[in-house]
Amino acid sequence: MMERILITSAIPYINGIKHLGNLVGSQLPADLYARYMRARGHEVMFICATDEHGTPAELAAAKAGKPVAEYCAEMWQVQKDLSDGFRLSFDKFGRSSSPQNRRLTQYFAGRLADNGLIEEVSERQVYSNADGRFLPDRYIEGTCPNCGYERARGDQCENCTKQLDPTDLIDPRSAISGSTDLEVRETKHLYLRQSQMKDQLDAWITSKTDWPILTTSIAKKWLHDGDGLRDRGITRDLDWGVPVQKGDDVWPGMEGKVFYVWFDAPIEYIAATKEWADGKGLDDAAWRRWWRTDEGADDVRYVQFMGKDNVPFHTLSFPATIMGSGEPWKLVDYIKSFNYLNYDGGQFSTSQGRGVFMDQALSLLPADYWRWWLLSHAPENSDSEFTWENFQASANKDLSDVLGNFVSRVTKFARSKFGEVVPEGGSTAAEDANSPDTPGHWLVLAVSQNIALYEQHMENMEVRKAANELRRIWAAGNEYLQEFAPWSVHKENPDAAAHIVRLALNYIRLLAILSRPFIPDTSAAILNALNVEDTNWLRFNSGKESNRINALVESLSALPPGHAFTVPDNLFRKIGDEERVEWSERFAGVRA
Ligand code: 2FM
Ligand code: ZN
Repeated sequence: MMERILITSAIPYINGIKHLGNLVGSQLPADLYARYMRARGHEVMFICATDEHGTPAELAAAKAGKPVAEYCAEMWQVQKDLSDGFRLSFDKFGRSSSPQNRRLTQYFAGRLADNGLIEEVSERQVYSNADGRFLPDRYIEGTCPNCGYERARGDQCENCTKQLDPTDLIDPRSAISGSTDLEVRETKHLYLRQSQMKDQLDAWITSKTDWPILTTSIAKKWLHDGDGLRDRGITRDLDWGVPVQKGDDVWPGMEGKVFYVWFDAPIEYIAATKEWADGKGLDDAAWRRWWRTDEGADDVRYVQFMGKDNVPFHTLSFPATIMGSGEPWKLVDYIKSFNYLNYDGGQFSTSQGRGVFMDQALSLLPADYWRWWLLSHAPENSDSEFTWENFQASANKDLSDVLGNFVSRVTKFARSKFGEVVPEGGSTAAEDANSPDTPGHWLVLAVSQNIALYEQHMENMEVRKAANELRRIWAAGNEYLQEFAPWSVHKENPDAAAHIVRLALNYIRLLAILSRPFIPDTSAAILNALNVEDTNWLRFNSGKESNRINALVESLSALPPGHAFTVPDNLFRKIGDEERVEWSERFAGVRA
C-alpha cells in the first residue's frame, strides 16, 4: 500500500501580510512537496492556518481600531486569498482561534497535568495601570543599566545585546502607552516540566539520523548547551487566547488566563485537520486516522516545513506536549527547515516594511514567476538573497527563453506546417528507442537520467537541486530542436519533420506534467492547449533503468497522430530593464 503523507507548514502570524522570505521558508516548499506527492498518487493531507493569539495580534487589532476577533477574521481572509493567489494547495487553511483548537489545547493541557508534567508557579510581573494589563517583557522599555541606551527592551538591550529583566531597566515605561505608572504584581502561571522529558527527547532526536543538519544541529544545541529545556510558562495574563482549562474542567486559580501562543499554535496542526473534517461533515475517524497511530496513522509519513527560527519549538516544545500526553499521537517523521532569504543587501523586515510582500508580488506578476524564482533559490544550505537583477535574469532566461520559447516554437511551427493536430508520419517513439541517431533515441538518452534525478530530489525535498534538474529538462527541448531542425528537414522530407514535431509536442506534454509542482498555472495552460486531461505521472524512478526508459517512451507517445491542440497564449513575458529599475526603487523604502 502507498504511504499516506501528512504535510504541515509553519502557521503564519495573523498580524500583517507575509513577505516573500516568509513564503519561501515554509508554505511554498511545503506546497511543492504536497503537489509532487499527490501527483505520484499518494494520499496527502496538507495543512496550514493562521497563528492568531498573543500580544502582537492584540496590539495590531488595537492599532486598526477593531476588536481582536474581528481583526483576526478579516486578516485570515486576506491571508487566505493571498495563499490562493500563490496557488498554495492546502487541504485546510485553518485558524488557531478555532473552537477545535480551543478544545484540543485544553485537552492536551489536561493530559499533561494528569501525567504530573504541569507545575503552578508564582511569578512577579510588571502590571501597567494605564493599559490595564500585565506587560510581556518585550513591551516594557527603559534605559539600559549596562550601556545607557534609552530604548532598551525588558528582555534584552538591542544596543549592547545584554539580556535583561524588566526590573533591571532604569525609568521603565509601557511600550504600548508610554505610561510610567507600572507596578510589580504577583501572578500565578502554569509551567510545562519539559526538563523531565530531556532523555526521551534526546533519544528521539538522536534517532533521526536522516534529518537535515540544519534541523538537528539547532535541536541539539538547545538540548545540550542552551537552556532550551528549562521548564517554561505556558500561560499568560491576556484576554485573547485559549482560556486555561484542564480538559473540560475549570482550573482553579487560572481564571481569566490564556495559554501561551506557542503552546496552542502547533496543536492547531491537529485541530486544523479536524476543522477540515468538520467542514466536510466527516466524523472524527476522518481526521484521527492522520494523527493517532492507534487509529490508522501508523502508515502516515508526517513532514513539517519551517524556517530555522521555528525549529526549537518543533523539535523540543511541541514533541514534549505530544510525548507528555502519554497517548499515541503522531510525532513528526521529518523536519525540513530553511535558512533566511535576504532582500537586496539587507533583511526582509515586516516591522520596517522592507522587501516585497505577498500582495505586492502578485500585483506585479503572476504567481508562477515568483514560485519559480523563490523555489529555485530556496535558502536551503545557507541564507540566500533576492535581488531584482537576479529575479529579472532568471525569469527572462529560464521561463521565457528556455521553457516559453520551446513551447511557442514547436506549437507554432506545427500549426503552420501541419495544422492544429499532432502530425502523422515517420517512425514511432518505441521504434526510435531501439535505433540510435533517431529523434526519439536522442531525446530518451538526453533526459531519462535527468528525470530520474529530478524525482529523487523531489522525494528528498532537495528543492534547489530539483529546480536545477527541471531546468535541464526544459533546456533539452531547445537542444533537441537545434539538433533536428524540423524547419530545414521539412523542405526535403515532410514525414521526417512530422515525426520530429510529434515527439516535440509529446515532450511539451511531459514538461507540463513534470513542471506542475513548481509552476501550476503555466502547466495547466499548456495542458489545456494540448487538450490533455489525463496527467498521470509515469513511474520513471521505479526500479531498473529499462523501466524508466519504457516509461519515457510511453509518455512520448501519449498524444497520438490526429490529436487536436491549440497554440497556447504567450506563456511568459519578459521583464524589461525599466520596470526592474522602477520596482527596485519602489520597494527600496518603507511600505506605506
Ligand atoms: O514564526 C511564525 O510565523 C509562527 N507563527 C510559526 C508557528 S508554527 C506552529 F507552531 F504552529
Ligand atoms: Zn545596553
